[in-house]
Amino acid sequence: MSQIKLKFPENFLWGAATSAYQVEGGNKNNWSEWEKANAKRLTSETKKKWQKWQQEKFPEMFEEKNYISGRACDHYNRYEEDFDIAKQLGHNAHRFSIEWSRIEPEEGKFDEKEIEHYRKVLKALRARKIEPFVTLWHWTNPLWLKNGELNKKFPKYFSRYVKFVIEKLGDLNNFWITLNEPTSVIFSSYIQGAWPPQKRNPFKALCVYKNLAAAHNLTYSEIHRIAPQAKVGFSNIMIYIEPTHKWHLLEKLIVKISDYFSNRKFLKMTNGNNDFLAIQYYFHKKISFFGMNAEKNKNVSDLDWDISPEGIYPLLKSLKKYNLPIYITENGLADKEDKLRSAFIKEHLKWIHRAIAEKVDVRGYFYWSLLDNFEWDKGFWPRFGLVEINYETLERKIRPSAWEYKKIIEANGIIDESKS
Ligand code: BGC
Repeated sequence: MSQIKLKFPENFLWGAATSAYQVEGGNKNNWSEWEKANAKRLTSETKKKWQKWQQEKFPEMFEEKNYISGRACDHYNRYEEDFDIAKQLGHNAHRFSIEWSRIEPEEGKFDEKEIEHYRKVLKALRARKIEPFVTLWHWTNPLWLKNGELNKKFPKYFSRYVKFVIEKLGDLNNFWITLNEPTSVIFSSYIQGAWPPQKRNPFKALCVYKNLAAAHNLTYSEIHRIAPQAKVGFSNIMIYIEPTHKWHLLEKLIVKISDYFSNRKFLKMTNGNNDFLAIQYYFHKKISFFGMNAEKNKNVSDLDWDISPEGIYPLLKSLKKYNLPIYITENGLADKEDKLRSAFIKEHLKWIHRAIAEKVDVRGYFYWSLLDNFEWDKGFWPRFGLVEINYETLERKIRPSAWEYKKIIEANGIIDESKS
Protein backbone atom coordinates (compact mmCIF):
# COMPACT_ATOMS: atom_id res chain seq x y z
CA MET A 1 0.00 0.00 0.00
CA SER A 2 1.64 3.21 -1.11
CA GLN A 3 1.22 6.50 0.64
CA ILE A 4 1.31 9.74 -1.24
CA LYS A 5 2.98 12.68 0.32
CA LEU A 6 1.47 16.02 -0.51
CA LYS A 7 4.30 18.53 -0.39
CA PHE A 8 3.62 22.21 0.13
CA PRO A 9 5.62 24.94 -1.62
CA GLU A 10 8.96 25.89 -0.19
CA ASN A 11 8.79 28.73 2.36
CA PHE A 12 5.14 28.01 3.02
CA LEU A 13 3.96 29.88 6.12
CA TRP A 14 2.45 27.77 8.89
CA GLY A 15 0.90 29.24 11.98
CA ALA A 16 -2.16 30.21 13.94
CA ALA A 17 -4.19 33.38 14.48
CA THR A 18 -5.71 35.33 17.37
CA SER A 19 -7.39 38.70 17.82
CA ALA A 20 -6.79 41.29 20.54
CA TYR A 21 -10.24 41.43 22.11
CA GLN A 22 -10.56 37.66 22.17
CA VAL A 23 -7.28 36.91 23.95
CA GLU A 24 -5.64 39.99 25.46
CA GLY A 25 -7.96 40.77 28.35
CA GLY A 26 -8.59 44.21 29.85
CA ASN A 27 -9.96 45.85 26.73
CA LYS A 28 -12.39 48.75 26.83
CA ASN A 29 -14.20 49.19 23.55
CA ASN A 30 -17.67 48.99 21.99
CA TRP A 31 -17.78 45.20 22.46
CA SER A 32 -16.71 45.26 26.12
CA GLU A 33 -19.50 47.76 26.87
CA TRP A 34 -22.00 45.75 24.85
CA GLU A 35 -21.14 42.49 26.61
CA LYS A 36 -21.76 44.11 30.00
CA ALA A 37 -25.14 45.40 28.88
CA ASN A 38 -26.09 42.07 27.27
CA ALA A 39 -24.59 39.29 29.43
CA LYS A 40 -27.84 38.77 31.33
CA ARG A 41 -29.92 38.58 28.17
CA LEU A 42 -27.45 36.24 26.46
CA THR A 43 -27.52 33.95 29.50
CA SER A 44 -31.30 33.87 29.51
CA GLU A 45 -31.45 33.00 25.79
CA THR A 46 -29.18 29.97 26.16
CA LYS A 47 -31.95 27.40 26.40
CA LYS A 48 -33.59 28.33 23.13
CA LYS A 49 -30.35 28.99 21.23
CA TRP A 50 -28.42 25.77 21.83
CA GLN A 51 -29.29 22.14 21.51
CA LYS A 52 -29.61 19.81 24.48
CA TRP A 53 -26.28 18.07 23.86
CA GLN A 54 -24.53 21.42 23.75
CA GLN A 55 -26.21 22.61 26.94
CA GLU A 56 -25.15 19.41 28.69
CA LYS A 57 -21.61 19.50 27.39
CA PHE A 58 -21.10 23.19 28.20
CA PRO A 59 -23.01 24.06 31.39
CA GLU A 60 -20.88 27.21 31.65
CA MET A 61 -23.08 28.76 28.95
CA PHE A 62 -25.71 29.23 31.67
CA GLU A 63 -23.42 31.47 33.71
CA GLU A 64 -23.36 35.19 33.16
CA LYS A 65 -19.58 35.34 33.50
CA ASN A 66 -19.27 33.23 30.32
CA TYR A 67 -20.34 36.35 28.38
CA ILE A 68 -17.85 38.78 29.97
CA SER A 69 -14.44 38.86 28.28
CA GLY A 70 -12.66 40.25 31.38
CA ARG A 71 -9.04 39.16 31.47
CA ALA A 72 -9.66 36.58 28.67
CA CYS A 73 -6.39 34.61 28.25
CA ASP A 74 -4.31 37.48 29.66
CA HIS A 75 -2.34 37.26 26.45
CA TYR A 76 -1.56 40.97 26.84
CA ASN A 77 0.81 40.00 29.66
CA ARG A 78 1.66 36.46 28.59
CA TYR A 79 2.45 36.88 24.91
CA GLU A 80 6.07 35.76 25.42
CA GLU A 81 4.93 32.50 26.97
CA ASP A 82 2.35 32.02 24.19
CA PHE A 83 4.89 32.68 21.44
CA ASP A 84 7.23 30.19 23.09
CA ILE A 85 4.45 27.65 22.69
CA ALA A 86 3.92 28.62 19.04
CA LYS A 87 7.64 28.21 18.46
CA GLN A 88 7.66 24.86 20.24
CA LEU A 89 4.84 23.80 17.92
CA GLY A 90 6.93 24.60 14.88
CA HIS A 91 5.00 27.69 13.74
CA ASN A 92 6.90 30.02 11.44
CA ALA A 93 4.13 32.64 11.18
CA HIS A 94 1.58 34.18 13.53
CA ARG A 95 -1.39 36.47 13.01
CA PHE A 96 -2.61 38.82 15.73
CA SER A 97 -4.49 42.09 15.88
CA ILE A 98 -3.78 45.52 17.29
CA GLU A 99 -6.49 46.98 19.50
CA TRP A 100 -7.42 50.42 18.19
CA SER A 101 -9.00 51.45 21.52
CA ARG A 102 -5.66 50.97 23.26
CA ILE A 103 -3.71 52.99 20.69
CA GLU A 104 -6.22 55.84 20.46
CA PRO A 105 -8.22 55.80 23.70
CA GLU A 106 -9.39 59.37 23.12
CA GLU A 107 -10.06 60.89 19.75
CA GLY A 108 -6.78 62.06 18.22
CA LYS A 109 -4.72 61.18 21.32
CA PHE A 110 -2.33 58.34 20.73
CA ASP A 111 -0.86 56.28 23.52
CA GLU A 112 2.90 55.84 23.18
CA LYS A 113 3.02 53.21 25.91
CA GLU A 114 0.56 51.00 24.08
CA ILE A 115 2.34 51.29 20.76
CA GLU A 116 5.51 50.35 22.61
CA HIS A 117 3.69 47.26 23.86
CA TYR A 118 2.96 46.15 20.29
CA ARG A 119 6.57 46.90 19.28
CA LYS A 120 7.59 44.43 21.95
CA VAL A 121 5.05 41.91 20.69
CA LEU A 122 6.45 42.19 17.16
CA LYS A 123 10.02 41.95 18.41
CA ALA A 124 9.09 38.87 20.45
CA LEU A 125 7.84 37.19 17.26
CA ARG A 126 10.86 38.27 15.23
CA ALA A 127 13.22 36.99 17.96
CA ARG A 128 11.59 33.57 17.53
CA LYS A 129 11.80 33.76 13.73
CA ILE A 130 8.03 33.84 13.44
CA GLU A 131 6.69 36.01 10.59
CA PRO A 132 3.98 38.35 11.88
CA PHE A 133 0.72 39.13 10.10
CA VAL A 134 -0.93 42.11 11.76
CA THR A 135 -4.64 42.86 11.61
CA LEU A 136 -5.51 46.49 12.18
CA TRP A 137 -9.23 46.11 12.83
CA HIS A 138 -10.75 42.92 14.15
CA TRP A 139 -14.28 44.36 14.67
CA THR A 140 -13.75 46.40 17.85
CA ASN A 141 -14.04 50.19 17.93
CA PRO A 142 -12.85 52.78 20.46
CA LEU A 143 -15.67 54.16 22.57
CA TRP A 144 -15.30 57.73 21.30
CA LEU A 145 -16.11 56.60 17.75
CA LYS A 146 -19.85 57.08 17.77
CA ASN A 147 -21.71 54.61 15.56
CA GLY A 148 -18.47 52.77 14.82
CA GLU A 149 -18.21 51.50 11.27
CA LEU A 150 -21.50 53.19 10.42
CA ASN A 151 -20.02 56.61 11.05
CA LYS A 152 -19.36 58.23 7.68
CA LYS A 153 -16.05 59.51 9.01
CA PHE A 154 -14.93 55.93 9.76
CA PRO A 155 -12.50 55.82 6.79
CA LYS A 156 -10.88 59.08 7.89
CA TYR A 157 -10.54 58.09 11.55
CA PHE A 158 -9.37 54.60 10.70
CA SER A 159 -6.69 55.78 8.29
CA ARG A 160 -5.42 58.32 10.85
CA TYR A 161 -4.98 55.49 13.39
CA VAL A 162 -3.37 53.26 10.77
CA LYS A 163 -0.96 56.02 9.77
CA PHE A 164 0.21 56.29 13.39
CA VAL A 165 0.62 52.52 13.69
CA ILE A 166 2.58 52.16 10.46
CA GLU A 167 4.88 55.05 11.32
CA LYS A 168 5.67 53.36 14.63
CA LEU A 169 5.69 49.69 13.64
CA GLY A 170 6.27 49.67 9.89
CA ASP A 171 9.91 48.67 10.28
CA LEU A 172 8.97 45.49 12.14
CA ASN A 173 6.17 44.08 10.05
CA ASN A 174 5.55 43.34 6.38
CA PHE A 175 2.04 41.86 6.18
CA TRP A 176 -0.86 44.12 7.10
CA ILE A 177 -4.48 43.08 7.15
CA THR A 178 -6.55 46.23 7.25
CA LEU A 179 -9.94 44.73 8.14
CA ASN A 180 -11.05 41.36 9.40
CA GLU A 181 -14.07 39.85 7.63
CA PRO A 182 -16.10 42.96 6.74
CA THR A 183 -19.07 40.84 5.68
CA SER A 184 -19.31 39.06 9.06
CA VAL A 185 -19.93 42.41 10.74
CA ILE A 186 -22.29 43.53 8.00
CA PHE A 187 -24.31 40.35 8.31
CA SER A 188 -24.25 39.76 12.08
CA SER A 189 -24.69 43.40 13.15
CA TYR A 190 -26.84 44.91 10.41
CA ILE A 191 -28.79 42.04 8.81
CA GLN A 192 -29.21 39.61 11.71
CA GLY A 193 -28.99 42.30 14.36
CA ALA A 194 -27.21 39.97 16.80
CA TRP A 195 -23.96 41.89 17.34
CA PRO A 196 -23.39 45.48 18.40
CA PRO A 197 -24.87 47.89 17.51
CA GLN A 198 -27.74 45.44 16.77
CA LYS A 199 -29.21 47.53 13.98
CA ARG A 200 -31.21 45.42 11.58
CA ASN A 201 -31.37 47.51 8.49
CA PRO A 202 -30.29 46.56 4.95
CA PHE A 203 -29.74 50.20 4.06
CA LYS A 204 -27.29 50.55 6.94
CA ALA A 205 -25.64 47.29 5.86
CA LEU A 206 -24.94 48.88 2.47
CA CYS A 207 -23.52 51.99 4.16
CA VAL A 208 -21.13 49.77 6.13
CA TYR A 209 -19.96 48.04 2.94
CA LYS A 210 -19.22 51.49 1.56
CA ASN A 211 -17.47 52.82 4.68
CA LEU A 212 -15.33 49.75 5.17
CA ALA A 213 -14.32 49.55 1.52
CA ALA A 214 -13.40 53.25 1.57
CA ALA A 215 -11.42 52.67 4.77
CA HIS A 216 -9.51 49.82 3.16
CA ASN A 217 -8.79 51.71 -0.03
CA LEU A 218 -7.61 54.81 1.82
CA THR A 219 -5.33 52.90 4.17
CA TYR A 220 -3.96 50.80 1.35
CA SER A 221 -2.41 53.93 -0.16
CA GLU A 222 -1.45 55.35 3.23
CA ILE A 223 0.42 52.20 4.27
CA HIS A 224 2.31 52.09 0.97
CA ARG A 225 3.21 55.76 1.24
CA ILE A 226 4.88 55.18 4.62
CA ALA A 227 6.17 51.64 4.08
CA PRO A 228 6.55 50.96 0.35
CA GLN A 229 7.72 47.39 0.96
CA ALA A 230 4.57 46.47 2.93
CA LYS A 231 2.05 43.92 1.69
CA VAL A 232 -1.54 44.90 2.32
CA GLY A 233 -4.82 42.99 2.14
CA PHE A 234 -8.06 42.42 4.04
CA SER A 235 -9.29 39.10 5.31
CA ASN A 236 -12.33 37.80 3.53
CA ILE A 237 -14.58 35.16 5.03
CA MET A 238 -15.66 32.96 2.16
CA ILE A 239 -18.63 30.64 2.34
CA TYR A 240 -19.01 27.83 -0.14
CA ILE A 241 -22.59 28.14 -1.32
CA GLU A 242 -24.29 25.69 -3.68
CA PRO A 243 -27.82 24.77 -4.71
CA THR A 244 -29.43 21.67 -3.18
CA HIS A 245 -30.79 20.77 -6.62
CA LYS A 246 -28.46 21.55 -9.49
CA TRP A 247 -31.42 21.86 -11.90
CA HIS A 248 -33.36 24.37 -9.78
CA LEU A 249 -33.13 27.76 -11.47
CA LEU A 250 -34.37 29.73 -8.49
CA GLU A 251 -31.92 28.02 -6.15
CA LYS A 252 -29.15 28.79 -8.61
CA LEU A 253 -30.17 32.41 -8.69
CA ILE A 254 -30.19 32.63 -4.88
CA VAL A 255 -26.72 31.02 -4.85
CA LYS A 256 -25.44 33.66 -7.27
CA ILE A 257 -26.82 36.53 -5.23
CA SER A 258 -25.62 35.13 -1.88
CA ASP A 259 -22.21 34.34 -3.30
CA TYR A 260 -21.96 37.89 -4.60
CA PHE A 261 -22.82 39.59 -1.31
CA SER A 262 -20.89 37.12 0.90
CA ASN A 263 -17.77 36.42 -1.08
CA ARG A 264 -17.28 38.84 -3.96
CA LYS A 265 -18.73 42.31 -3.39
CA PHE A 266 -16.08 43.56 -0.98
CA LEU A 267 -13.34 42.11 -3.14
CA LYS A 268 -14.76 44.02 -6.12
CA MET A 269 -15.04 47.24 -4.12
CA THR A 270 -11.34 47.00 -3.20
CA ASN A 271 -10.06 45.57 -6.45
CA GLY A 272 -6.62 46.90 -7.36
CA ASN A 273 -5.90 47.67 -3.70
CA ASN A 274 -4.84 44.24 -2.51
CA ASP A 275 -1.31 42.88 -2.60
CA PHE A 276 -2.54 39.49 -1.44
CA LEU A 277 -5.82 37.76 -0.73
CA ALA A 278 -6.48 36.59 2.83
CA ILE A 279 -9.16 33.93 2.97
CA GLN A 280 -11.00 32.63 6.03
CA TYR A 281 -13.02 29.48 5.60
CA TYR A 282 -15.53 27.99 8.04
CA PHE A 283 -18.82 27.40 6.25
CA HIS A 284 -20.50 25.49 3.49
CA LYS A 285 -24.17 26.27 2.81
CA LYS A 286 -26.68 24.55 0.62
CA ILE A 287 -29.47 26.71 -0.67
CA SER A 288 -32.86 25.16 -0.85
CA PHE A 289 -35.93 26.85 -2.26
CA PHE A 290 -37.03 27.47 1.32
CA GLY A 291 -33.88 29.30 2.42
CA MET A 292 -30.29 28.72 3.49
CA ASN A 293 -29.71 25.33 5.07
CA ALA A 294 -26.40 24.17 6.34
CA GLU A 295 -25.85 20.73 4.93
CA LYS A 296 -25.11 18.51 7.88
CA ASN A 297 -22.42 15.87 7.65
CA LYS A 298 -22.11 13.43 10.47
CA ASN A 299 -19.24 15.46 11.82
CA VAL A 300 -20.14 18.79 13.34
CA SER A 301 -18.16 21.03 15.66
CA ASP A 302 -19.20 21.88 19.23
CA LEU A 303 -21.01 24.87 17.72
CA ASP A 304 -22.92 22.45 15.49
CA TRP A 305 -21.18 23.87 12.45
CA ASP A 306 -20.92 21.55 9.51
CA ILE A 307 -17.43 20.36 8.61
CA SER A 308 -16.90 20.51 4.83
CA PRO A 309 -13.21 20.65 3.92
CA GLU A 310 -13.90 20.19 0.21
CA GLY A 311 -15.67 23.57 0.03
CA ILE A 312 -12.40 25.45 0.28
CA TYR A 313 -11.22 24.04 -3.04
CA PRO A 314 -13.72 25.68 -5.44
CA LEU A 315 -13.39 28.93 -3.52
CA LEU A 316 -9.63 28.94 -3.97
CA LYS A 317 -10.01 28.05 -7.64
CA SER A 318 -12.36 30.98 -8.12
CA LEU A 319 -9.65 33.34 -6.86
CA LYS A 320 -7.01 32.25 -9.32
CA LYS A 321 -8.06 34.92 -11.81
CA TYR A 322 -6.85 37.65 -9.45
CA ASN A 323 -3.27 36.48 -9.88
CA LEU A 324 -2.37 37.37 -6.30
CA PRO A 325 -0.71 35.38 -3.53
CA ILE A 326 -3.29 33.82 -1.21
CA TYR A 327 -3.00 33.17 2.52
CA ILE A 328 -5.56 31.19 4.49
CA THR A 329 -5.62 33.51 7.49
CA GLU A 330 -8.25 31.53 9.44
CA ASN A 331 -9.68 28.03 9.40
CA GLY A 332 -10.63 26.15 12.52
CA LEU A 333 -13.30 24.61 14.69
CA ALA A 334 -14.65 24.51 18.23
CA ASP A 335 -13.73 21.06 19.55
CA LYS A 336 -13.27 20.94 23.31
CA GLU A 337 -12.30 17.28 23.41
CA ASP A 338 -9.94 17.63 20.47
CA LYS A 339 -11.49 14.64 18.74
CA LEU A 340 -11.89 16.18 15.30
CA ARG A 341 -9.23 18.86 15.10
CA SER A 342 -6.32 16.86 13.63
CA ALA A 343 -8.46 15.38 10.88
CA PHE A 344 -10.07 18.77 10.29
CA ILE A 345 -6.71 20.42 9.66
CA LYS A 346 -5.43 17.59 7.53
CA GLU A 347 -8.56 17.34 5.38
CA HIS A 348 -8.60 21.07 4.70
CA LEU A 349 -4.93 20.97 3.82
CA LYS A 350 -5.57 18.19 1.31
CA TRP A 351 -8.03 20.36 -0.57
CA ILE A 352 -5.77 23.38 -0.31
CA HIS A 353 -2.97 21.26 -1.70
CA ARG A 354 -5.13 20.21 -4.63
CA ALA A 355 -5.74 23.88 -5.46
CA ILE A 356 -2.01 24.58 -5.21
CA ALA A 357 -1.30 21.65 -7.54
CA GLU A 358 -3.65 23.37 -9.99
CA LYS A 359 -1.62 26.57 -9.84
CA VAL A 360 -3.51 28.52 -7.22
CA ASP A 361 -0.82 30.51 -5.44
CA VAL A 362 -1.52 29.66 -1.77
CA ARG A 363 1.42 30.63 0.43
CA GLY A 364 0.33 30.13 4.00
CA TYR A 365 -2.13 28.60 6.45
CA PHE A 366 -3.13 29.97 9.85
CA TYR A 367 -5.23 27.75 12.08
CA TRP A 368 -7.87 29.57 14.16
CA SER A 369 -6.82 29.77 16.89
CA LEU A 370 -3.57 29.41 18.77
CA LEU A 371 -5.46 29.67 22.08
CA ASP A 372 -8.96 29.00 23.30
CA ASN A 373 -10.52 32.44 23.44
CA PHE A 374 -13.57 34.65 23.86
CA GLU A 375 -15.94 33.82 21.03
CA TRP A 376 -17.82 37.14 20.73
CA ASP A 377 -21.53 36.90 21.65
CA LYS A 378 -21.11 33.22 22.53
CA GLY A 379 -18.50 33.84 25.19
CA PHE A 380 -15.89 31.40 26.42
CA TRP A 381 -17.48 27.99 25.99
CA PRO A 382 -16.53 27.28 22.32
CA ARG A 383 -12.97 25.98 22.37
CA PHE A 384 -11.09 26.72 19.16
CA GLY A 385 -7.53 26.52 20.50
CA LEU A 386 -4.56 24.39 19.60
CA VAL A 387 -3.83 25.26 23.19
CA GLU A 388 -6.40 24.79 25.93
CA ILE A 389 -6.85 27.60 28.44
CA ASN A 390 -7.95 27.02 31.99
CA TYR A 391 -9.78 30.29 32.61
CA GLU A 392 -9.53 29.93 36.40
CA THR A 393 -5.74 29.47 36.58
CA LEU A 394 -4.82 30.71 33.06
CA GLU A 395 -2.75 27.58 32.68
CA ARG A 396 -1.95 26.66 29.06
CA LYS A 397 -2.14 23.05 27.93
CA ILE A 398 -1.15 21.97 24.45
CA ARG A 399 -3.79 19.79 22.79
CA PRO A 400 -2.71 16.59 20.95
CA SER A 401 -3.86 18.02 17.58
CA ALA A 402 -1.27 20.79 17.96
CA TRP A 403 1.47 18.14 17.89
CA GLU A 404 -0.13 16.56 14.82
CA TYR A 405 -0.12 19.95 13.15
CA LYS A 406 3.54 20.27 14.09
CA LYS A 407 4.31 17.04 12.22
CA ILE A 408 2.71 18.51 9.10
CA ILE A 409 4.73 21.69 9.50
CA GLU A 410 7.99 19.82 9.95
CA ALA A 411 7.34 17.67 6.92
CA ASN A 412 6.04 20.70 5.01
CA GLY A 413 3.41 18.29 3.77
CA ILE A 414 0.88 15.60 4.57
CA ILE A 415 0.49 11.94 3.85
CA ASP A 416 -2.68 11.32 1.90
CA GLU A 417 -3.79 7.82 2.92
CA SER A 418 -6.99 8.03 0.91
CA LYS A 419 -4.96 7.80 -2.29
CA SER A 420 -3.00 4.80 -1.11
C1 BGC B 1 -13.44 35.50 13.27
C2 BGC B 1 -12.91 35.11 14.65
C3 BGC B 1 -13.83 34.08 15.26
C4 BGC B 1 -13.85 32.86 14.37
C5 BGC B 1 -14.70 31.71 14.89
C6 BGC B 1 -13.88 34.32 12.44
O1 BGC B 1 -14.95 34.66 11.67
O2 BGC B 1 -12.51 36.28 12.59
O3 BGC B 1 -12.81 36.26 15.42
O4 BGC B 1 -13.47 33.75 16.56
O5 BGC B 1 -14.37 33.22 13.13
O6 BGC B 1 -16.04 32.06 14.92
